[in-house]
Amino acid sequence: MQYTLRVYRYDPESGQPGRLVDYTVELEKGATVLDALGEIKAHQDGSLVYRRSCRSGICGSCAMKINGFNRLACETQVESLGRKPIHVEPLPGFKPIKDLVVDLEPFWNNLHRTLPWLINPNPPPTDKERPQSPEEFAWLEMPMTCILCASCTSSCPSFWADRTYLGPAALNKAFRYEFDTRDQGFGQRRDTLDNRHGLWRCHTIMNCNDCCPKHIRITEEISWLKRKVVEEKY
Ligand code: SF4
Ligand code: SF4
Ligand code: FES
Repeated sequence: MQYTLRVYRYDPESGQPGRLVDYTVELEKGATVLDALGEIKAHQDGSLVYRRSCRSGICGSCAMKINGFNRLACETQVESLGRKPIHVEPLPGFKPIKDLVVDLEPFWNNLHRTLPWLINPNPPPTDKERPQSPEEFAWLEMPMTCILCASCTSSCPSFWADRTYLGPAALNKAFRYEFDTRDQGFGQRRDTLDNRHGLWRCHTIMNCNDCCPKHIRITEEISWLKRKVVEEKY
């Protein structure tokens, strides 16, 4: 089948603004948007730039805006997309670097601010590990599937308005450690979370939930974090 992709092209060295360019490609049944971009790069324009690695929804590097919605290019089959030509653009909310690649530095900085690692000054109770029950671990199963693709933060209107807002991906990570029974880092994370650029910047618009490829209920997690902060305070 033939498909036309309308792809965002931007070269900072040209001094010109970004523009949409149409490419028509022949694709086999089941081909993904990432396959289509590979076809363009291999046979039509080798200068096209985009990120990808695993091609299987694991590394999180191929997130982009496809037909107006943040998705993983490697998981999005071309024939599943209604609107034609298929619009392929970089993740919104971040500075474009080239073509479909954006500068994710603010995303990583915000993530780092939540201290996304286990904090516990005490030695483990056994010489091997800090045990957890299956019920305790159940709280972590969903947030741990995050592949840090940035789709959620990129779709969040609160992040568009305030780049120092932690954003849903960083808050998902904060939830993962704050609701880990082995962690004792609340005292160190509290000021970052209980802050106008932290939890309270979330206005429950829920764009993040809608675009997460792992179906993480981020808004629900943010509500649990808000509850924890309020309970500790009062
Ligand atoms: S629910 Fe909160 S974090 Fe998610 S998109 Fe809306 S404002 Fe952003
Ligand atoms: S929470 Fe979901 S959308 Fe956000 S970075 Fe993780 S996997 Fe991507
Ligand atoms: S290439 Fe790794 S998630 Fe798409």
